[in-house]
Amino acid sequence: MSSKRATSVAPLAGPLVGRGSVPGDKSISHRAVLFGAMAEGTSRLEGVLDSADVRSSIGAVRALGARVSLEKQPDGSLAGEVEGWGAKGPSTPAAPIDCGNSGTTTRLLMGLLAPWDVEAELVGDESLSRRPMGRITGPLSRMGARFSPEGRQTLPLTVRGCGAAKPLAYESPVASAQLKTAILLAGIFAEGETRVDEPAPSRNHTELMLPGYGVRVGSGPGWASVAGPQSMRACDVRVPGDPSSSAFPVCAAVMRPGSDLVIEGISLNPARTGYIDVLRALGADVEVVERGKTGEEPVGDVRARYTACLSATEVAAGAIAGMVDEIPVLALVASRAEGETVFYGGSELRVKETDRLQAVIDGLAVLGVRAWADGDDLHIEGRPGAEVPEGLVFDSLGDHRLAMTWALVGMTGVVPVEVIDYECVRISYPTFQDDMERFTR
Ligand code: S3P
Repeated sequence: MSSKRATSVAPLAGPLVGRGSVPGDKSISHRAVLFGAMAEGTSRLEGVLDSADVRSSIGAVRALGARVSLEKQPDGSLAGEVEGWGAKGPSTPAAPIDCGNSGTTTRLLMGLLAPWDVEAELVGDESLSRRPMGRITGPLSRMGARFSPEGRQTLPLTVRGCGAAKPLAYESPVASAQLKTAILLAGIFAEGETRVDEPAPSRNHTELMLPGYGVRVGSGPGWASVAGPQSMRACDVRVPGDPSSSAFPVCAAVMRPGSDLVIEGISLNPARTGYIDVLRALGADVEVVERGKTGEEPVGDVRARYTACLSATEVAAGAIAGMVDEIPVLALVASRAEGETVFYGGSELRVKETDRLQAVIDGLAVLGVRAWADGDDLHIEGRPGAEVPEGLVFDSLGDHRLAMTWALVGMTGVVPVEVIDYECVRISYPTFQDDMERFTR
């Protein structure tokens, strides 16, 4: 267990009811900041998530020469302008760029820097410094970028861009939107066609957003391409609510007796709503109402009601990328279902902010639920109706999605639980505790 402080998370005052919203989507917020910085002119952004991760991207593009004037709005989001460097490209920063805990900032920055004649050292916190970067430095090196120290697979790393990037046709071994995006961002400025093929479709926000910046992109399920060189012009972006953040109140409503909650205005991009399909497959009473589009993202509402009886399900490996950040909280819901739930092919969970496959198994063990990994398949033997005893302590391991998952045990139950380093929710959902309390009123 870490030596960090434990916070007591108490049962919510009542069921989750009425209508509410969650903050802006993290993936789209990062992209709006980074793409705005790359573009010529001034982009106006609205609904940007104000979280530690997005602030890492804002800090990074400022250090590279973009002007960012985003201000806190009454609803807690950030709105304002990003004036990009456009055709002049990013400047070599005066000091190392601190990417904090953010894998998206780091990996997208590597692609963004690769085709320019600049050099930047990227550093991160302890968790980020353990995460694999070889999956990005490998293909970007083939496009002409240089990384030092040579052969190093983790941060800190210095990126040395190459003024004349080469295009790349890349068969990716993993379904990762961060990897796909890094290669596409470099490809925009390379001479010729750059294409990424993936073993399963990852989230496609980059492909949906880039045309707004004047970049022609080809894409289909499991592939994306860009023919360079192209230039980027400013684009206004409104960020919809984050489906990954919505998963926490939605799952809480499914587990907390008496709940009937609607979360409004989230992205209903099918590459992100896999968690809703799994909840439905578990028998949870969850409905979706599509209400139109925000930019190119389909948006709408999710309604979730308490469901007394859940039954186990199996999730195919090809579906994991569509719910990769929601598996911890889905595993918690599955631990209440009758039977054995299996998530097949969860290898990517091992390289998130923590090894989430192992962390889920360990956290469920605290609850007295048997869960195990068979290779990278996650098995959970449900214990419907099991009582949560007093005094349980969960270690978030500094991973925001684990902190929120284990907090739900206390919030939806009848006794408090302790969550170690609960404050790490600031990475993606700083207002989590307040929002959850608000959803009960
Ligand atoms: C993200 C992609 C996913 C996800 C992360 C955000 C993105 O990572 O887990 O939280 O914004 O592209 P991978 O692409 O590495 O799976």
